[in-house]
Amino acid sequence: MKTINSLKMTFPALSRNEAVIRSCVAAFAAQVDPTIEEISDIRSAVSEAVTNSIVHGYKDGAGEIAVTLKLTEDNCLYIKISDKGCGIEDVEKAMEPLFTTAPEGERAGLGFAVMEAFTDDLKVRSAVGKGTSVTMKKKISSRYE
Ligand SMILES: Nc1ncnc2c1ncn2[C@@H]1O[C@H](COP(=O)(O)OP(=O)(O)OP(=O)(O)O)[C@@H](O)[C@H]1O
Ligand SMILES: [Mg+2]
Repeated sequence: MKTINSLKMTFPALSRNEAVIRSCVAAFAAQVDPTIEEISDIRSAVSEAVTNSIVHGYKDGAGEIAVTLKLTEDNCLYIKISDKGCGIEDVEKAMEPLFTTAPEGERAGLGFAVMEAFTDDLKVRSAVGKGTSVTMKKKISSRYE
């Protein structure tokens, strides 16, 4: 589907940027007039992906988070959150609800489940030592059609 608008941003992987990134994505989504529920879903899913990059990907140090946004002609928003952190050994296992490698850090293992529940598609690519990218698709309803 044809891309009608896009945006690329990079941020230092700091927890203060969770809210910043969430708001940037919501601002980009606003151009297609999403419902309050759609915006809230997007914000929750983005938060989970960004938090994962910070607390897991870059657990051993500093790094950058890249956010790529695309809006297609059919009113779908594609949100890609990438890091160059430690990567995930077994993506399929990591995506199982309640799986976490950080139980001591009060992690529930529900981040991917939230991303899956609040978006229309979730793709995770990862390589150990290279990093992780999460791409989410959210169809925005057209209220005026
Ligand atoms: N960007 C990432 N880099 C490295 N590992 C990751 C990344 N994202 C997820 N993981 C791995 O996948 C596991 C599952 O992620 P998920 O978000 O579902 O749960 P969690 O972060 O452990 O807990 P919660 O999100 O509920 O606080 C993590 O425990 C971690 O091992
Ligand atoms: Mg998580």
